Amino acid sequence: MIQVLLSGCGGRMGREVAKICEVSDCFEIAAGVDPVLPECAFPVYSTFNEVKEKIDVIIDFSFHTAITGLLAYAKKEKIPAVIATTAFTPEELAEIENASKEIPVFKSANMSIGVNLICELAQKAAKFLPDFDIEIVEKHHNQKVDAPSGTALMIADEIASVLPEKVEYVYDRHSVTQKRSKNEIGIHAIRGGTIVGEHEVIFAGHQEVVTITHTSYSREILANGAVCAAQYLVGKPAGMYNMKSMLNEA
Ligand SMILES: NC(=O)c1ccc[n+]([C@@H]2O[C@H](COP(=O)([O-])OP(=O)(O)OC[C@H]3O[C@@H](n4cnc5c(N)ncnc54)[C@H](O)[C@@H]3O)[C@@H](O)[C@H]2O)c1
Repeated sequence: MIQVLLSGCGGRMGREVAKICEVSDCFEIAAGVDPVLPECAFPVYSTFNEVKEKIDVIIDFSFHTAITGLLAYAKKEKIPAVIATTAFTPEELAEIENASKEIPVFKSANMSIGVNLICELAQKAAKFLPDFDIEIVEKHHNQKVDAPSGTALMIADEIASVLPEKVEYVYDRHSVTQKRSKNEIGIHAIRGGTIVGEHEVIFAGHQEVVTITHTSYSREILANGAVCAAQYLVGKPAGMYNMKSMLNEA
């Protein structure tokens, strides 16, 4: 059994990861870290220094400020870490990068295997269809405060990395009255109801349209991606890993 330390074990994502591990034949949550000390089926500590259990891998869905304590512990104990938390400061990102020189670190802002696959597919399609107009449409529930989603931007960045002429991200056609230019990627956000998350990448050419869509029906897919990442990371040499490296090795 792979022994997991679950950082942010009391949160929405932490609880999803715990549910998956509860029924897993490979993973067991040995302990959790969460300052609110939630009630869990495993020991929970408020800081990493207090953890006494033997740990094989850390899965982190917490808050960006937790990263310094997490990395200090992981480096001291030589434990690989799956970092799913988002919104790190540039300084924290540098800490993660530095830690990866000593331990294996897996980091992705979207742990859905499907979303990362559509990034790759969109990149392939962009190379194949360089003259097509590209528009990304994302849909989320009515509680989401940011727009467009980080994932829509991630997809746009992947496309732009193979089509450097697509330099312009256009979010709002309402404010200007002009035709779209060839070098833009349109990005559109829809908000409503309880939609967990949908991303659609549209390649529109002369009398033909190719559409790549991903739909998330629950947080379980994100938790599951993090658990797969943990399995992939255990035993790897120090370095930075992400969904792309994992999918490319699959
Ligand atoms: N990579 C992905 O696919 C993905 C998916 C969903 C959420 N996220 C990110 O994961 C994070 C958690 O999301 P959530 O929806 O579970 O949030 P949440 O607010 O429900 O849970 C966060 C938990 O972290 C705990 N926490 C706060 N400070 C901590 C610390 N110093 N050490 C340990 N735990 C601490 C909180 O007490 C809380 O229980 C966010 O950054 C979110 O953006 C990433």
